[in-house]
Amino acid sequence: MVTQAIAAMARGGVADAVAERPRTVPELAATTGLDEDAFRRVLRALAALGIFRVDDDGLVSNTPSSEYLRSDVGGSVRWIAQSFAGDHYRVWEYAAEAFEQGGAVAERALGESYFDWLAHHPAEAEIFNRAMAAGSAVRFEALVERAWSDELVVDIGGGTGGLLAALLGRHTGLRGIVVDLPHSAAAAEARLAEAGIADRCTFVSGDFFAEVPAGGDVYVLSQILHDWDDEAATRILRTCRAAAEPSSGLLILDAVLPEGDGAHLAKLLDLHMLVLHGGRERTEAEWRVLLRAGGFELERAEVTGAFPVIEARPLASDAETD
Ligand SMILES: C[S@@+](CC[C@H](N)C(=O)[O-])C[C@H]1O[C@@H](n2cnc3c(N)ncnc32)[C@H](O)[C@@H]1O
Repeated sequence: MVTQAIAAMARGGVADAVAERPRTVPELAATTGLDEDAFRRVLRALAALGIFRVDDDGLVSNTPSSEYLRSDVGGSVRWIAQSFAGDHYRVWEYAAEAFEQGGAVAERALGESYFDWLAHHPAEAEIFNRAMAAGSAVRFEALVERAWSDELVVDIGGGTGGLLAALLGRHTGLRGIVVDLPHSAAAAEARLAEAGIADRCTFVSGDFFAEVPAGGDVYVLSQILHDWDDEAATRILRTCRAAAEPSSGLLILDAVLPEGDGAHLAKLLDLHMLVLHGGRERTEAEWRVLLRAGGFELERAEVTGAFPVIEARPLASDAETD
């Protein structure tokens, strides 16, 4: 219920509309195209959860929570809310089967794996890519303060280039390559041009199970390995290892699951990865084992920042383990 209610507000751009000035329910219902009575009831339910506020004069405004539904805030959830209530929601209908079988059920719901399905559904792919780009604004914060020099950064599965556009915008000596599936090419090239970095950053269509560009100083895997089980994640790492120089660095932006029973968002994201992709979130010990299997040595897992960064170095080939 809450997922669908939030998505209705996200689709209608309600948080953007009331960010300009508080508005009335009839005015908002008209601009969002929603039934006025239904809109009022959705809003009432959400306001009770701290998402939007309706004052005594009937004027709607944002709360700290609904601010995140705006398009233009860092870490905006306006688009991921729509994926959660749309294609992801359809897949969750089969969650019981995912838990019984221990694997992804996207094919049951959508007829093919999630990323294959997105390639054939441009409207949903655009929403998903916008969601990832909004999230990469947060992930950028975890990378920006590093001691960057004039390096070539290869963002594997970099979507439409949001992370590199932000990073190269801040560090003008950096060069970049975004690698992703062909259906992301047009949006990525437009974003890189819009960011004014097309002369330093290119988009390469590719399959990270087959080949990634060689010679990168730093390889980035942001929100990639958690989409895959250990066997597939190892194959991605091995593709990176084959392209990397002994001196290359690997930066993984993914959760580091804490041990124990404490609350952590990644424990729920882990279930989402299981249901949607057959993937998983990992503890530091699991990252260490996975990285060795893929030809890398874990150097550091930074779990204190806003977004964890896992740093690794290539293993000398004779030290690799299978
Ligand atoms: C969860 S998104 C992460 C996007 C981005 N790295 C970020 O942090 O926002 C996973 C990305 O992997 C890409 N992808 C999936 N399968 C791929 C493959 N076989 N080769 C290259 N990219 C792939 C998807 O298109 C998508 O952009």
